[in-house]
Amino acid sequence: MARIIENIDLAAYTSFGASAMADRVVEWNSTSDLLGYLAGEGKEHFGGKWTILGEGCNTLFTEDYNGTIIRSVAKGIEVVGEDEQHLTIRAAAGEVWDDVVAWTTERGLWGAENLSAIPSSVGASAVQNIGAYGVEAKDIIVRVEVVRLDTLVVEYLSNAECRFGYRESIFKESLAGKVIITSVEYRLGKTAAPHLDYGTLRPEVEKIGDITPEGIRKAVVAIRESKLPDPKKIGNAGSFFKNPILPRGQVEELLKEYPTMPVYEVAGAPDSLKIATGWMIDTLGWKGKALGRAGVHSKQALVLVNLGGATGTEVMALAERICKEVKDRFGVEISPEVNIL
Ligand code: EPU
Repeated sequence: MARIIENIDLAAYTSFGASAMADRVVEWNSTSDLLGYLAGEGKEHFGGKWTILGEGCNTLFTEDYNGTIIRSVAKGIEVVGEDEQHLTIRAAAGEVWDDVVAWTTERGLWGAENLSAIPSSVGASAVQNIGAYGVEAKDIIVRVEVVRLDTLVVEYLSNAECRFGYRESIFKESLAGKVIITSVEYRLGKTAAPHLDYGTLRPEVEKIGDITPEGIRKAVVAIRESKLPDPKKIGNAGSFFKNPILPRGQVEELLKEYPTMPVYEVAGAPDSLKIATGWMIDTLGWKGKALGRAGVHSKQALVLVNLGGATGTEVMALAERICKEVKDRFGVEISPEVNIL
């Protein structure tokens, strides 16, 4: 049976650790559990405001939430397919993403290692198409199992049907509020396929001297630990903003003025380039600075942090100030990567 907790502070449910009260949090731990809830008490709750929370690592509540928070605590990783080259696994929506990565690298499987140590749940890995070091979840997702809220029928979406893009998917667009993800299937490779071309990954792997999924995982963890704050110690939600994808001509103009600005090609979009918001915020001098109790991380300017007791409103005041300064200086609109509620 789903567990229903009434009147609860969400600070412990989000990595930002900003306080906000919710009417209730509903935790389900199997698809049948979820279906039972949706056919029963859920009918009433879903008449009001509701949202889904995964590990809470990408969400900021700026006010109390007068509604229902649905959370999967369903766990489990199982093998559902195998051929000579691949192993396909199904992970339950409430699995901790990094536990799934560890499961694959321990078995020498390729595909998830660059996505090590991303704070996320399995469900959110598909919603957000999490990505790091040149790899995105879409590169290994085979299909996503969902419950449709109108029919309470279990359905599957293929990778193409998920319409993945940079931190985008159908679950944030036309299926938002219409389905709940129950599990995700990932296809991992049995033969070596390292992706080492992003940033300082290759030298870090060479330092470790182990080009295996485990070795790459170690290198990614080392890079992330050196740049990104541990949410257990300092509240944050990873990158606060997205990196904008702009017309190539606009980026070329910017490069004339800022030749050191990092620029990335965008697969499948030859007329566009992606630029680094972290670099722009850093160039504005915000790194390590604060506005009230909300700050910009001292080692990665794309990450906003809760310096202790910051409310969601304080974090947003800092975010809005930064957006304005980026617009004024670079003429570029940036938008949050974090889900603001
Ligand atoms: N940079 C600076 N100063 C900064 C931050 C970055 O100059 O304070 C420069 C870096 O030197 C580099 C470039 O900007 O040349 C990009 O920085 P980095 O490699 O650290 O990556 P990012 O673009 O800031 C993205 C993802 C991260 C992911 C890293 C590595 C987004 C919104 N963020 O960050 O994902 O870990 O690439 O692949 O795309 C997340 O989504 O929460 C997240 C942490």
